[in-house]
This record gives sequence, structure tokens and C-alpha cells, in this order.
Amino acid sequence: MERLQKVMAHAGVASRRSSEKLITSGHVKVNGETVTELGVKVSKHDHITVDEMPIQTEMPIYILMNKPRQVVSTVSDDKHRKTVIDLLDDEIKERVYPVGRLDYDTTGLILLTNDGELANQLTHPKYEVDKTYVAKVEGIPTNEELKHLRKGVNIDGKHTSPAKSKLLSSDDGRKTAIVSLTIHEGKNHQVKKMLQAIGHPVMKLKRETYAFLTLKGVLPGEFRELNPEEVKELKRLAQLDK
Ligand code: URA
Repeated sequence: MERLQKVMAHAGVASRRSSEKLITSGHVKVNGETVTELGVKVSKHDHITVDEMPIQTEMPIYILMNKPRQVVSTVSDDKHRKTVIDLLDDEIKERVYPVGRLDYDTTGLILLTNDGELANQLTHPKYEVDKTYVAKVEGIPTNEELKHLRKGVNIDGKHTSPAKSKLLSSDDGRKTAIVSLTIHEGKNHQVKKMLQAIGHPVMKLKRETYAFLTLKGVLPGEFRELNPEEVKELKRLAQLDK
């Protein structure tokens, strides 16, 4: 169940504030009854009209997916590659789309939603949340090099925000290492470019966390819906839960 003004805003009727005005001034009916109070909650089964015109009430849905390699994080692909949408089953009827992007060869946590308001906020540079990536890299980064990442490095002529970085393990024989990197920005190929910038090209990349969300219990190619507490917390982080 969602508040009526939120469902109206989500359906593109008007902003939440203007939807409230439409309700209190008697323009809105739920199942044929005029509603003028603001506390009313509705579900996808309710029939809502504004000035007798039905509105499309798709309820917001929030999905956490563990994206496998060789899947594009877009709704469709002109090269006919598999997309994250293809991994959803028939139970998800809503038209969801990914929040931000993961590269074709990057695995891990990606959110999908039909809540445009939240998706926009979460990808807005001002509110971007922490994301932790684990990368297998060529060579073994020194402490000095990792420090560069923490201070920020130059990619495409711009300085990246300071990142948290840690060497998790190294293989002296193969000359590779596993590094974790936590960033809040979302520039194109950012992690690969940052690690390239310190001389350690990425061989494999996985996003393990998105804010407080983890992949726990979600195998590659699988997904789950977020629970209401998780949605609330995400909205709080995105400054939407005012
Ligand atoms: N940074 C990258 O380089 N690739 C991703 O897929 C995500 C972050």
C-alpha cells in the first residue's frame, strides 16, 4: 500500500505537493468515492481517477539483482545481448529499469526499479551512495599506489573523489592481486579507470555492496525484491523520505 499522492506523483499526474492539492480540493476519486483527506493509502487494485480520468497505477517495485558476466545493464540492447530485464521472471510485470550501470563484464549488485524519483536521486552526484567493488588486478599494488586511490586520481582530466581502498590478497606467483575499492561516484568505467591510473589494469570486477545492501543469499543471475525497511532506508539516503 502506498499513499495516494505518492501513487499519483509516480503515475506522472503531478508532483506530490500538487497531487495533495488535487486531493484536498476534491478532484480525486478512489473506487468511485471522492477522497479529500491526505492519509489514504491505495494498492494496485484500487481504481483512481482525477477529474474522472483513470490514472495508471503501477506500484513502485525495487529489485536487487546479482548480475552475471555477459549481461548488459540496459532495458534493451541493439546487439541482441542478454539484458538484466531478460533475467527477471514472469512474476515481475512492472516495467523496471536499472539504477546506474554495470559493465557487460562486471558482475554483482545492481538495483532495478520503476520508481524514477528514487532512481534519479540515487544516481544524482549529490546523493550518490557508497558502492564497494572487488577487483582482480594485474600486478600487486603497493601501499603508495593504494594511497593515490584514497586521495583521488586523475581520470579523463578530472580528479576522482577520495576512495577507500584495500589490498585483500595477492598472488606473488601469478603477479595478481585482489583489491577492494569503495567509491560514491558513478562515472563511466570509473573503477577500471582508477585502477588503470595506478598501473594495475582490472582483470575481473564485481560490485559487492550498494549502500547498506549486499548480495547475501542472491546467487549470480538471481534477484530479490527489497523489503519495506530497505526501501525506506534507501529513500532516507537519497533524501526522499522527508
Ligand atoms: N566501474 C567500472 O569500471 N565498471 C563498472 O561496471 C562499475 C564501476
